[in-house]
Amino acid sequence: MGKIGLFYGSNTGNTEFIAFQIKEAYEKLDPGSVDVFNIGASSPEQILKYTYLIFGIPTWNTGELQDDWAAFWPKLGEMNFTGKKIAIFGLGDQNGYGFNFLDAAGMLADEVMKQGAELLGLWETNTYEFAESKANVEDHFLSLGIDQDGQSGMTPARITKWVKRIKTEFGI
Ligand SMILES: Cc1cc2nc3c(=O)[nH]c(=O)nc-3n(C[C@H](O)[C@H](O)[C@H](O)COP(=O)(O)O)c2cc1C
Repeated sequence: MGKIGLFYGSNTGNTEFIAFQIKEAYEKLDPGSVDVFNIGASSPEQILKYTYLIFGIPTWNTGELQDDWAAFWPKLGEMNFTGKKIAIFGLGDQNGYGFNFLDAAGMLADEVMKQGAELLGLWETNTYEFAESKANVEDHFLSLGIDQDGQSGMTPARITKWVKRIKTEFGI
């Protein structure tokens, strides 16, 4: 078992692809450290085995959770994340959904903090154009923002930078 559990949900494959990109980038710094799971086939017990967690979630249906995260949501509300360090990456489309950009990542961040988690991996908003986002607090997002629809060319550099940041913030 690796040190870090990465749990993602994905309707059309983008978040799944990014999950494995993040694993690969992280494991360049720390080989064998990241275990990847689909939240749709995961239990609270599996998640709680890890102190260090990465959650991946796209926003769907104009400001809604991705389907598997939506199905898992009632269980999430009963989990105790005290002592857990959690970093989130969100996927969204700022051009198509500029009033709800990365909303689901913001909802997930709020929920895990409510359940006691320490949230890491905050990300600056200055390379994005959007009107509103539930993930936005002042000049940063509560998650990494990945936009495969409009800014896929920026994704590799964003991942490299974010992974270095969360590794430092995890402190492992
Ligand atoms: C019907 C539909 C609704 C969407 N709603 C939003 C949204 O409200 N906010 C957002 O940032 N992105 C939205 N998106 C964009 C997706 O989050 C984006 O395409 C993402 O990469 C999909 O990830 P997945 O392939 O892992 O499911 C929407 C896309 C579709 C097709």
